[in-house]
Amino acid sequence: MTLKQNLLEILENRTARVAVIGLGYVGLPLAVVLADAGFDVTGIDLVTEKIDLLNRGLSYIQDVPAEQVRKHVEAGRLRGTTDFSVLKEIDAVSICVPTPLRKTGDPDLSFIVSASETLAAHLHPGMVVVLESTTYPGTTRELMLPTISAGTDLKAGTDFFLAFSPERVDPGRQDWTTVNTPKVIGGITADCGEVATVWYRQAIETIVTVRSAESAEMTKLLENTFRMVNIGLVNEMALMCDRLGIDVWEVIEAAATKPFGFMKFTPGPGLGGHCIPIDPLYLSWKLRSLNYTARFIELASEVNTGMPRHVVTLVMDALNERGKPLKGSQVLVLGAAYKPDIDDLRESPALDIITLLLEKGALVEYHDPHIPHFDHDGLEMASVPDLLEAVRTADCVAIVTDHSAYEYGQILDSADLIVDTRNALKLGAAGHPNVVKL
Ligand SMILES: NC(=O)c1ccc[n+]([C@@H]2O[C@H](COP(=O)([O-])OP(=O)(O)OC[C@H]3O[C@@H](n4cnc5c(N)ncnc54)[C@H](O)[C@@H]3O)[C@@H](O)[C@H]2O)c1
Repeated sequence: MTLKQNLLEILENRTARVAVIGLGYVGLPLAVVLADAGFDVTGIDLVTEKIDLLNRGLSYIQDVPAEQVRKHVEAGRLRGTTDFSVLKEIDAVSICVPTPLRKTGDPDLSFIVSASETLAAHLHPGMVVVLESTTYPGTTRELMLPTISAGTDLKAGTDFFLAFSPERVDPGRQDWTTVNTPKVIGGITADCGEVATVWYRQAIETIVTVRSAESAEMTKLLENTFRMVNIGLVNEMALMCDRLGIDVWEVIEAAATKPFGFMKFTPGPGLGGHCIPIDPLYLSWKLRSLNYTARFIELASEVNTGMPRHVVTLVMDALNERGKPLKGSQVLVLGAAYKPDIDDLRESPALDIITLLLEKGALVEYHDPHIPHFDHDGLEMASVPDLLEAVRTADCVAIVTDHSAYEYGQILDSADLIVDTRNALKLGAAGHPNVVKL
């Protein structure tokens, strides 16, 4: 029996021992889903607090119910560790480490490199490795393959198997989950793709196998670039409508009645989250090295990153109308998370808006039912304890994240002035004398 046949057999009968490296928003749900499928799962992370919580059967990710973690931990099917030497005993491993940007805006692959270097010490014949972290096309073959196989004569496709499979998780979403969202996989060789497909098919309903790791890497970047560019377009529509005195929300709703050829995107205070503002820049960076400018990405990024400043201008102009300067005025920012009903602050435009308002001398407070306090780049704040009291006393309320927990009618009745960047108040074309819409 070849190494591949043996691996396929233990994957199909689910006796393979599997591991997930990087237990964050992507890695923890994946570890749980693999345990649901009956695999023996070891989660590996550098952060001991996460490992301790996991081993106590607790969840630290909003979308992963503690009950599901506890069930598997108690059954001995799921455990966490910071000790990478367990990889010696592992047959199949997924890597879900962060891929942020450096301060310069260039890709920061240091987490993939360090996880790959650690894995290299334990790579053994008959192992399958899948990279899940979003990255530019070529990373799996050009960076990961030589790193994990350094110092060995193991060959990808015969001795071990390497593939890329982008994660599509949408935090806070209930209808599309890790299990029922189709998963794209592309191998370094056809056999690598086949082995990774057989593994993931045990736990995930639909697998879409593409011909190469590069196609899988590019698929993720097409998806996220599509969103980024369309959000950039609709944000620019909002800026144009503002100049023209047209209600962009009414225009979007009207356009969305077209039953074909139109897909609805909505403007907002700026991009947020770990994917849409960042991933397309991995692609444009890679293309720059090939002397090509990814024009749509650059332009959309420029429009989207300008939105927080536009929101601050709206606040300033609205206060000015009432004879108040922004400096010294009390501004209450509603919602700090980057999108509704989640507790994720990463790249949230609320952070830029708060910083810009503070720079201009406003007295800024925020409220977020999901984020009681935050400490970001030296900016430390706590959510106001009494929402309605804060709304009443603010000179201006800026709705930045339209959490569903808010009673918008009460907020409208209590506030002197509101800048609504999400059309959360749904006022329609008639508007309201105390409300300025994006
Ligand atoms: N969060 C999302 O919604 C989402 C969606 C799709 C794709 N992605 C992509 O998935 C990847 C992971 O994102 P995330 O949101 O889960 O990140 P995260 O920061 O929530 O989790 C990453 C985890 O990796 C750990 N880690 C870092 N270096 C490590 C190492 N060398 N060894 C072991 N563990 C290490 C960190 O401690 C952390 O727990 C990124 O590339 C991201 O772009 C994220």
